[in-house]
Amino acid sequence: MASITGKRLSLHKYVEEQKQENDALKYQLAQIQHLANTGTISFMIAHEINNLLTPLRNYAAVALENPDDKSFVEKALQKTVRNCERASNIMESMLALANGQTQEKKNARLLALVEEIFTCLCRDFAKDGITVEIRIPEELTVWCVSVQIQQVIMNLILNARDAMMPRGGILCIKASENNDTIKIEVSDTGEGIEPADLKNIFDSFFTTKTNKNTPSGYSGAGLGLAFCKKIIAEHEGLISVESKSANGTKFKITLPKLQ
Ligand SMILES: Nc1ncnc2c1ncn2[C@@H]1O[C@H](COP(=O)(O)OP(=O)(O)O)[C@@H](O)[C@H]1O
Ligand SMILES: [Mg+2]
Repeated sequence: MASITGKRLSLHKYVEEQKQENDALKYQLAQIQHLANTGTISFMIAHEINNLLTPLRNYAAVALENPDDKSFVEKALQKTVRNCERASNIMESMLALANGQTQEKKNARLLALVEEIFTCLCRDFAKDGITVEIRIPEELTVWCVSVQIQQVIMNLILNARDAMMPRGGILCIKASENNDTIKIEVSDTGEGIEPADLKNIFDSFFTTKTNKNTPSGYSGAGLGLAFCKKIIAEHEGLISVESKSANGTKFKITLPKLQ
């Protein structure tokens, strides 16, 4: 009898010890996940800032090359200043995202946000044989953290451009709304995505651009779409993709309207 009670007690102790060990491991895992997230976010910040530095450098170079054209220099410098402001806003917004802070959302006019992206990119798409079609209703507004939604669309535009180089093609940005959602589509007529890659493209560090000299001078970090997914999730929306290799790609974003 005594021995059964003894066995029970030691079993009980064993279960208790295992439970404590399990809790300690869970805690360690949470710490490691937090570190991994912080690492990924740091990479994402570097990636987004890099996207902004290229046009900044181009605007500054344009100003230096044309010192006698005062109004031209002034315009280039104004754009440089504007891009610097944007870069610092993005940095602030991404750091808040990394710290899990909720950021203030506002109603922003989508067309204006998209037009500003093209100004920031400082890139003549026509020179690369890319026709840009923007079909966004004038007054359509999105409930969002503006700089974040701009970064999402900017990432999609840069990917679309990479996929269409060097042949060129059509980049189309469309938006529409119904009673409770806003739908944004970014499509291209580029090389498309291999069916086997489709399930991986939103994963951090997944890229097919490692050996490819991308025209944007931005080597594949595989973070753009992971970032897009994170931002869209923060906005309680969804992002999905449709693509057939050699047949172009379409990214669809659905965002809830402010109720
Ligand atoms: N519009 C597109 N057309 C073709 N492939 C795309 C497109 N957008 C994304 N991809 C694929 O998804 C991968 C991941 O994209 P992303 O996360 O932006 O990283 P990166 O652009 O640094 O490779 C790309 O390497 C590419 O294979
Ligand atoms: Mg990308």
